[in-house]
Amino acid sequence: MIITIDGPAAAGKGTVSAYLADKYKLAYFDTGMVYRAVGLQMVLTENDVNDEDKAEQIAKELTFPKMIELSKHKDFRSDIGGQAASIVSAHPKVRAALLKMQQNFALNPTFADGTPARGVVYDGRDTGTVVCPNAELKIFITASTEVRAQRRYKEFVEKGIATSYDKVLQDMIARDKRDSSRATAPLKPAEDAVIIDTSDLSIDEVLQKIVPLVEAKL
Ligand code: C5P
Repeated sequence: MIITIDGPAAAGKGTVSAYLADKYKLAYFDTGMVYRAVGLQMVLTENDVNDEDKAEQIAKELTFPKMIELSKHKDFRSDIGGQAASIVSAHPKVRAALLKMQQNFALNPTFADGTPARGVVYDGRDTGTVVCPNAELKIFITASTEVRAQRRYKEFVEKGIATSYDKVLQDMIARDKRDSSRATAPLKPAEDAVIIDTSDLSIDEVLQKIVPLVEAKL
C-alpha cells in the first residue's frame, strides 16, 4: 500500500502522514529529508549550493544511514538547512540522482528500527506526480497562503524563534512562487489526486475526510 501526501509548505502534510503511518502500520518517508541532507552536506563541506554538479555528486553518494546521521545536525531543520535544501532541490541533476533512492524505499519498506512494513506513506511535493505515479492513494493537501503563514508563525513563536507574521507571510509567498514555477517537479497535484483544502478545517476534520479514503483502498 503506497499513499502519497503532497502539497505546499505548512499545509499539514507532516501531521497527516505521521497519523496515517501510525494508524495503518505503514513506514513514513519524509522526502524533504533527502534534499535537506544534500543541502546541509553542501554547506558543511563549504561548497556553493548553486554548484549543480557538486550537489549531484553529493546526491549520488547519499545513503539512508548518512541521511539519518545528517538529520541529527542542528542546522538540518533550521533556516540554513531549509534554504540550502530549497536551492539544491531545484537542480534537475540532483532530483534525478535522488529519485531512485526514494522509489527504492517502497520495494522493501521498513520502520526506523529496521522491521519490515506493509507499505509507505510518502510526504513531499512531487511524490504523487514523480516519485510514485502508481500509488494506490494520492492526496494533495493545501490551504490559503495566509492560513499556512499563520500556522508557521505560530510554530516559530512556540519554539521561541523571533520573527514577525509579515516576514513569515512574505517568505511563504516567495517559496510558493519558487516551488510552483520551477521547471523540474513544479508543485502541482497529480491528476488522480484527491485535493483537500484545510484552510477552514481542524486536524480532526481533515483526518475524518482522509481515513475513509484509505479504508476504501485497504
Ligand atoms: O518539506 P521540507 O521543508 O523538509 O523540504 C525541504 C525542501 O526540499 C523544500 O524547499 C522543498 O522545495 C524541497 N522538496 C522538494 N521535493 C520534495 C520534498 C521537498 O523539492 N518531494
